[in-house]
Amino acid sequence: MIQANDFRRQWQDLREDALAAFEAVGSCGRYVLGEEVRTFEEALGALWGFTHVAGVASGLDAIEISLRALGCGPGDRVLTTPLSAFATTLAIVKTGATPVFVDTDGMGLIDLQRCHELLKQRGDIRFFVPVHLYGFALAPNALRQLRDEHGLMVVEDCAQSIGARFRGEPTGAVGQLAATSFYPTKNLGAMGDGGAILLRDAALDARVRALRDYGQTAKYRHDIIGCNSRLDELQAAFLRRACLPRLEHWISRRREIAAAYLQGIRNPAVRLPTPPDGSDPSWHLFPVWIEPESREAFMRHLNMGIHYPVAIPDQKALSEAPFEEPHACENARRLCASEVSLPIHPYLNDEEVAGVIAAVNSF
Ligand SMILES: Cc1ncc(COP(=O)(O)O)c(C=O)c1O
Repeated sequence: MIQANDFRRQWQDLREDALAAFEAVGSCGRYVLGEEVRTFEEALGALWGFTHVAGVASGLDAIEISLRALGCGPGDRVLTTPLSAFATTLAIVKTGATPVFVDTDGMGLIDLQRCHELLKQRGDIRFFVPVHLYGFALAPNALRQLRDEHGLMVVEDCAQSIGARFRGEPTGAVGQLAATSFYPTKNLGAMGDGGAILLRDAALDARVRALRDYGQTAKYRHDIIGCNSRLDELQAAFLRRACLPRLEHWISRRREIAAAYLQGIRNPAVRLPTPPDGSDPSWHLFPVWIEPESREAFMRHLNMGIHYPVAIPDQKALSEAPFEEPHACENARRLCASEVSLPIHPYLNDEEVAGVIAAVNSF
């Protein structure tokens, strides 16, 4: 059976580099915030185009700490999308701020024109967490215009967009900070949890580093209320030594598979993604959409997953936290009822890709 992710195959490929990474940490004897985290942060920054990177414990923490570093807290409003991993909204709620949901377009990306219209009517929204969902980059120029016209502080949720570009520009170029995740299924996945905050401002970076480490600004000197959210040395060693050298290949393999799906799938009942001109997705996921009444049968036929079945404003947990939905998020809800994710991990072989295409076409 085709797996949504095949970590056993991945292990066969990178086993030696992973074992060498663990050996390096063990023989060095430093397990928290040592050289492995520092050198991984440097390598990721160089690869992605950031001067500062801080490894943290998860993508959720990366967003929350980024918002807190910008001063977001109780009483603030944060514009965001109703269609994402719940973590995007949870991070906002954890700061004490109120999420304000704006509907998506037909591909699941937050509708930037609607954001603009809402922001024109309201002067009380200072923060924005856009998500490059599925690895489809939002248009950076449109993000920049929103940021500048409305004086927004922006944290880009790049958990799914490592490697994604728009007219050559990587995601994360617009926000004051970008947040990413190394959850194992991500394009750059650890052997457990991890995340990072990426930025270009030294003062903000110092604040982020203090926040992730109990608010320490120097040893045993706590100037702000922080938390414990540090990327482990082991994860950093694994990511830098075993994964980063493979990342480019992994992303190009995802692109090959996406191209094969886009070319080979011909089933009028299945709507395929159509990234806009200039968009070069990282294809973290390959979403397709099918009429809600056929979805169960389609999923059984293919054994696939859904991202995401419930729009965030409809999650029960949000009955405990204030949020705003100024206009009904109808597109997001429709997508939640109709999305199915085809497998797209880099260890799928050509035969399996052809098998998925045949299965979709024969449905
Ligand atoms: C878009 C998005 N944002 C945030 C997160 C949270 O990342 P993590 O699972 O590392 O907390 C994820 C991953 O689950 C995600 O896909």
